[in-house]
Amino acid sequence: MTPVFAVGASVPADGEILGVPVFQPLAIPEGAGASISSRFLKSAGFEGALGQTLRLQATDGSVVVAVGVGRADRLDGDVLRRAGAAFARAVGPARRVAVTLTAAARRRVATGAATQAVVEGIALGSYSFTAHKSNGDRPHHHVSVTVVGGDSAGLRRGQQMAEATARARDWVNEPPRVMTPRRLAAEAEQLAEDTGLDVDIWDEDRLASERMGCLLGVAAGAAEPPRLIRLVYEPPAPSRARATVALVGKGITFDSGGLSIKTSDGMRTMKSDMGGAAAVLSAMGALPALGVRVRVIGYACCTENMPSGTALHVGDVLTARNGATVEVLNTDAEGRLVLADGLSLAVESSPDAIIDLATLTGGQRVSLGSQVAALLANDDDVAEQVLAAADRAGEPAWRLPLWSGYRSHLDSDVADLKNIGQPGQAPTIVAALFLQEFVGGRPWAHLDIASPAWSDSDDGWRTKGATGWGVRTLLEALRAWEA
Ligand code: BES
Ligand code: MN
Ligand code: ZN
Repeated sequence: MTPVFAVGASVPADGEILGVPVFQPLAIPEGAGASISSRFLKSAGFEGALGQTLRLQATDGSVVVAVGVGRADRLDGDVLRRAGAAFARAVGPARRVAVTLTAAARRRVATGAATQAVVEGIALGSYSFTAHKSNGDRPHHHVSVTVVGGDSAGLRRGQQMAEATARARDWVNEPPRVMTPRRLAAEAEQLAEDTGLDVDIWDEDRLASERMGCLLGVAAGAAEPPRLIRLVYEPPAPSRARATVALVGKGITFDSGGLSIKTSDGMRTMKSDMGGAAAVLSAMGALPALGVRVRVIGYACCTENMPSGTALHVGDVLTARNGATVEVLNTDAEGRLVLADGLSLAVESSPDAIIDLATLTGGQRVSLGSQVAALLANDDDVAEQVLAAADRAGEPAWRLPLWSGYRSHLDSDVADLKNIGQPGQAPTIVAALFLQEFVGGRPWAHLDIASPAWSDSDDGWRTKGATGWGVRTLLEALRAWEA
């Protein structure tokens, strides 16, 4: 359950728990409450390091939680977000919680951004997925959180960002038997109805008549039918010609590898292979409330990747929607196939920019790990806007070169392209080069979120399981988009 947030001028009289930021070396910022002394914190082993917390129970039952925020000169939005998450974890079950945003925090980070970051941290740090727990335990069930000294616009923004991220997490965390392409389409329809977006779903017959050959190829082995989901956001009363941004998400609701089957351990997290689609669809739902001023079209390419008697063979040739033919030499390189059709379709509405999100390559984990996404782009301006947004969101991305010298690795003997490159050579780059064949020269950025989409532990704003990575990067990018 997402907590309810409010701003306050002072600590509410009925508050049960108060969070107070503390710097390292130990310094309690002005206005943070005279109720705790540095000497006492130090004797309890509290140093003020970022993420460290200490609960102090007063005789009247009220609780103060000292929350380390690290060095004063390093304080930024990401620090506040992580401190918020640490605080949420230290709180436990409580009904009325308050945190103070100190003058020191507001000096270094604009009050709106600081409030947004703290709210995101608390909401995302207290996320838990309990839909299939018979006791439905809610370890962090804060009913209301007052941000003392906060800004109400920043607070609303933080709540919308966190809510959209939690929705994406919920979709990915659902077991793959539950969150099928049909179910995700139903979720998107409900979201469109709730938020006033246009929605369009293509079923397997429509996908065939629309020549989505690569998506259908991947779906051939699955008993569950595929879906292409399209959501459209029209900005209110545009004053001048508005830009259109297309978002495309990889939505493999379970990736077994197909006939090029993965190991059992390799499949352990493969319900997260729809992380790109979940991020795109869920972010779309927040655009109206955020008042985004560009037109946005979101596409999710959804299917399972399963082995069976009807599955793709190794050596099959598929025809993508843009007419390109692809030789499938590894059925586990399925993400680029479904995106080939999704990108081809996105190009047809002549967007000013395309951003795709995909859990695309194991190579992303090798090069950048679970905390930094890979960004590849054919356009510096789009790349920079997405990188800056990722930075604001605390979802860092690092640009890799779209090195055209490796394009020949995708040459096929029998078709226009093959779907794998040379073993062990720049797999993240080669996958992006494959996608580039389908963007029709439009300005485009690709985020490979293979590893960041999933976390094996609670860490800062990320919780164990699906992280919802990319939702807030997209929203930060779109709300500041410069055409
Ligand atoms: N969904 C996987 C990529 C992935 C791996 C995501 C690990 C998260 C964690 C993707 O479909 C895949 O299997 N990619 C292969 C491609 C290879 C066969 C060319 C890979 O990267 O190993
Ligand atoms: Mn795969
Ligand atoms: Zn995959």
